[in-house]
Amino acid sequence: MTFHRHRRLRASSGIRSLVREHQVTVNDLVYPMFVEEGLSGANEIGAMPGVMHYGLDAFRREIANLSELGIPGIIVFGLPAEKDERASSAYAERGIVQEAVRVAKAENPDLVVMTDVCLCQYNSTGHCGIVRDGKIVNDDSLTLIAKTALSHAQAGADIVAPSDMMDGRVARIREVLDEHQLEDVSILSYAVKYASAFYGPFREAAHSAPSFGDRKTYQMDPANAREAMREAVSDVEEGADMLMVKPALSYLDVMYRMREAFDQPIATYNVSAEYSMVKAAAKQGWIDERGIVMELMTSFKRAGADMILTYHAPDVARWLKEENR
Ligand code: PBG
Repeated sequence: MTFHRHRRLRASSGIRSLVREHQVTVNDLVYPMFVEEGLSGANEIGAMPGVMHYGLDAFRREIANLSELGIPGIIVFGLPAEKDERASSAYAERGIVQEAVRVAKAENPDLVVMTDVCLCQYNSTGHCGIVRDGKIVNDDSLTLIAKTALSHAQAGADIVAPSDMMDGRVARIREVLDEHQLEDVSILSYAVKYASAFYGPFREAAHSAPSFGDRKTYQMDPANAREAMREAVSDVEEGADMLMVKPALSYLDVMYRMREAFDQPIATYNVSAEYSMVKAAAKQGWIDERGIVMELMTSFKRAGADMILTYHAPDVARWLKEENR
């Protein structure tokens, strides 16, 4: 019997590194950060060990740490002091996200600063759009979402990332940015965002749980993959520069299809529960945290992601540094 000797190419660490198809580097990482209005210092988020709510002072110090680690980008989430029915704090000129963007760019102008554009954290209903008669209304929400994106861009954001899943938001944001001579600001669309239970810890972190109902009328059904392609096609037509798949872990098939179908850069969001599950098991001593996290990051690259938004970013950056030493 003849057979193939696949083990030849695994025989030493040198040969394994020569034939390795995908590699995670610090250049792939974007760190999501929560900035809280009125807070001084930082508080750890209960459901997300190691992840903090930052006041602006502590946020500034953390930006310096991240820059030291070589992490190229962050995405900012805000916790405003006030919420109302029009989500006014989402697009306030001196809102918490707007201020955080100014702080980050002042601290490190080379850091790529992204902002999450959504209404849920700023809205008294906790929904990503405006609510009328118990319904999340699409077209009126677009006005406020575009206004929010504009205020982030005017504060200095390099990339705005709409996560609301209203139809037409990419087109509206692009139009409003261009009208204000902000044609260099990019749009990273959360094109494919599922109505996922994996956002649970984030809603505690961002105080953004919906006050009634759920997000299933705007976020996608986890059972659908072809629909993801339709969402992504629309966003590309509307002017998205980059496309996101979210969550990451349970949606590698979708990421792979996106990679095959589009030439735009693909981002994935390794979301809060994906992070917290790893942290919880690691704390119990049940898993090798570093091994598990690096394997997860590698799987995102293998599935086609160009960049990874992950709460593990500082750890991954540190581990990669150690490996290179
Ligand atoms: C805002 C938003 C959410 C996340 C990112 N942007 C929450 C949601 O849609 O309910 C989730 C991120 C995470 O779980 O880490 N719409």
